[in-house]
Order: sequence, then structure tokens, then C-alpha cells
Amino acid sequence: MSRLVINGMKRLKGEASVHGAKNSALPILAATLLSGDESILHNCPDLSDVSGSINILRYLGCDVEFNGGTLVCNSRGLNRNSIPNSLMREMRSSIIFLGALLARTGSASMCFPGGCEIGPRPIDLHLKALSQLGVEINDDHGVFKCYVPNGLSGAKISLSFPSVGATENIMICASVAEGTTVITNAAREPEICDLADYLNSCGANISGAGEGTVVIDGVSTLKGARHTIIPDRIVAATLLACCASTGGRIRLDHLIPSHLGAVLSIYEECGCNVSIQGSSICFDSPQRLTAPKIIRTMPYPGFPTDAQAPVMGMIAKSKGTTLFIENIFENRYLHVGELLRMGANIKVEGKVAVSQGVECLHGAEVDAMDLRGAAALIVAALGAEGRSAVGGIKYLDRGYENIEAVLSNLGGDVKRI
Ligand code: EPZ
Repeated sequence: MSRLVINGMKRLKGEASVHGAKNSALPILAATLLSGDESILHNCPDLSDVSGSINILRYLGCDVEFNGGTLVCNSRGLNRNSIPNSLMREMRSSIIFLGALLARTGSASMCFPGGCEIGPRPIDLHLKALSQLGVEINDDHGVFKCYVPNGLSGAKISLSFPSVGATENIMICASVAEGTTVITNAAREPEICDLADYLNSCGANISGAGEGTVVIDGVSTLKGARHTIIPDRIVAATLLACCASTGGRIRLDHLIPSHLGAVLSIYEECGCNVSIQGSSICFDSPQRLTAPKIIRTMPYPGFPTDAQAPVMGMIAKSKGTTLFIENIFENRYLHVGELLRMGANIKVEGKVAVSQGVECLHGAEVDAMDLRGAAALIVAALGAEGRSAVGGIKYLDRGYENIEAVLSNLGGDVKRI
């Protein structure tokens, strides 16, 4: 199993670009099933989760070509409506194909996507909403056999939690339902807006994406579209955390600063200097960070749960104490145990973690157990004295494209072995 070997305490400096957003690419790839036509996606990140989606699309009969950041998918040849366990289990977000398959073919079967490292990942909100759109769901020992006996019809759907995936599944399914669908308490993440932009360029009629209420007027057919995927705000937050962990100074290009609002204010509270210049951020960090008082993860536009782990890796050796409250996932502190091996002082109690900054971290052999936890270990290792070896980087490859090259170009001593 490959590992990343990092020799810490090298100040990062220079420029880096942010690649396309994983959490935007994945739902849009599923939505390419709707049109039975060719879609062209630019700025698509080269990640193992994207490969997982491509494998599903090809299994279903689509033609997919992916070269140099541009993905061309023609879903005309769709000839299956079930996804086997092996492909479903490759990644949690494969549940997003359910709405797309039902909208295109009127039936779908797939197994429960399964939990992942950060929590049980239930899909009750997805299933309840789809049944309100007219979907019959039979749970046959963990395999969902779904069909649409009288076609899809618009509905008023109120989400008990602003679930990103459930909002996306509803938008995809409702875009070709008969009549109007109104989602209240919808997720407001930028990736929701990007999906709506793609669907509208396919001919859908969606308004209000990014606000709490999304209105979808169903249309009869959609065509393929050309779309550029937004930059990945969590990758941007992670690269800035890498820089801050080394007291470095970098410029990040090709991002949307307004998507990072809650994160940038925490970095400024830590004593970093953030200068926004169009789609770039010039970022300068002090030798030792000041611990932010409290980090509470919330649905967008609050502090993103995906940035909790990288930021924890960054402030482990800050001056002061930080209270983390993880409100989104049940089990998202798997990286804490590994940070302790590097000398961090963090205590976890349920959804609360208290981090007391230490003078310095030392390199260690550590293992990642989830995607953003892997990022936390990389961030900490960059700011630790001596050599670290980070295992479990298959998780890292799910969401970060070629991160060792990006960090090496910024002056980090990072090698994949
Ligand atoms: C998306 O996951 C992202 N993944 C996650 O990013 C992100 O952390 C999350 O949104 C929150 O922003 C993708 O977009 C592929 P949710 P998703 O539905 O859709 C509970 C990463 O690191 N819930 O908003 O699964 C759920 O258990 C990943 O890139 C239900 O109870 O998130 C969780 O506690 C990790 N029932 C909370 O809601 C449901 O039916 C948020 O889940 C659905 C969700």
C-alpha cells in the first residue's frame, strides 16, 4: 500500500491552482444520464471517486471519454438500470444515480450505498422525497427495487435536514417530472448551484438553487450540455491549511473566494493575512498560529464539515485552545488518534473535540481512515519536526488530485512511495 513520506518544517511558498470540485462533478456525472445525449464537462477533477462514477456510467451503457480535465459522456446507449454492489460500494455518493436512473428509465435497483468511515450515512431523506415524487420503493434484503408506476409528478418536499445528496437527487428527478416541485429547507452548498446550472443548460427549469427553497418546473425532455465545473472549495481550504501549518506564504488561483467565507474568517482569526484578488487568494501565515476559539460545523454557508479535519491538523500547534463541534457527521474525528501520535493534545467527547495547541509536533508513522482525515495528517506532517509516513492515502486520492506534486511545487518535501 503506498504511503506519503513527508519531511516537515519546510515553509510553503509560490503559486498553486485549485482543481474542479469533486462534490460538484459527482452529481453532474449522474445527471448526464437524463438527456440520452452528449454532455461535455470541463475542469473535471481526475480523482478515484470520479473514476468510480465513470465505471458506473460505462456499466450502464454510456460512452465516456476523459482526457486532460475534459470529460465527454454520451448516455444515449443506456441499457441497464441496476448498479451492482461492487460498483455501489466503491463510493458513498453512488446513491445519486438513483434519481437519475428513475428519471430516465422509470425504474432502478441498487443496494444500500453502505456507511463509510465517517458515519452510517442513512438515505431516509432521499427515499422519502423520491416516494413523494411518485417512486415505489421495495427494500428486498438491502437491495432497493424502485419503479415509477404512474410517472414522476411534482411535489412539495420539506427536508427535515438540508441534506446535500437528497437535495441533488430531488433536483435531478424532479427536472423531468410532471408539474412543479418545491423543496423547502434545501441544501445551499455551491455544488447545488453548479448542478442546477448544468441541468438548466440541459433545458431544465430550476430556480432558487443556493437558497433555502428550490423550485423545479418539470420539462418533458433534456438535451446534453457543455458545462465547466466550479473549483473545489475544500481543496482550496486544505491547501491554505497546508500553508498555514508551515508559516508559509502562497497564492492560490482558479477558485471562488466567496465559497470560502466561513473558512477564511477562521484563518484570519488564526492570524493569517488573506488578500482576495478576483479568483485568486494571496495568503500569508504567521510563524505560530493563534488558536481560534470555536469551530462549529454547519450546513453552508456555515463552516464546512469537510474542512474540520484539515483545520484541526493546522491548529494542533497553535497558541491557545480550540473547541470543535461537529454537527454534521457522527464519527468525524478518526484523525484525532493519529494526530496524538504526532504530539497533538486533543480530547474528544461525542461531537465535541478540544484541541490545546502544543509548541511543536513531531513526525510519526500514521494512518488515514477517511478522506478529510488523510488531509488532516498531511497538514500536520508538513508542520511537524522530522519525518512522517502517512498510510491509507487511497482515501486521499478520492478527493485530492496529485497532492504530492502540488505540495512539492510549493517547496514541501513530500514523496509517494
Ligand atoms: C455531501 O455528502 C458531500 N459528499 C460530503 O462530502 C459533505 O461532507 C456533505 O455533503 C455535507 O456537506 C458529496 O457531495 C459526494 P448530507 P452527503 O446528505 O450528501 C444525514 C467529502 O469529504 N443524512 O448533507 O452524504 C447524514 O447522515 C464528503 O467530500 C440523513 O440522516 O451529506 C449526515 O449526518 C464527505 N439521511 C447529514 O445528514 C439522509 O437521507 C449530512 O448529510 C441523508 C443524510
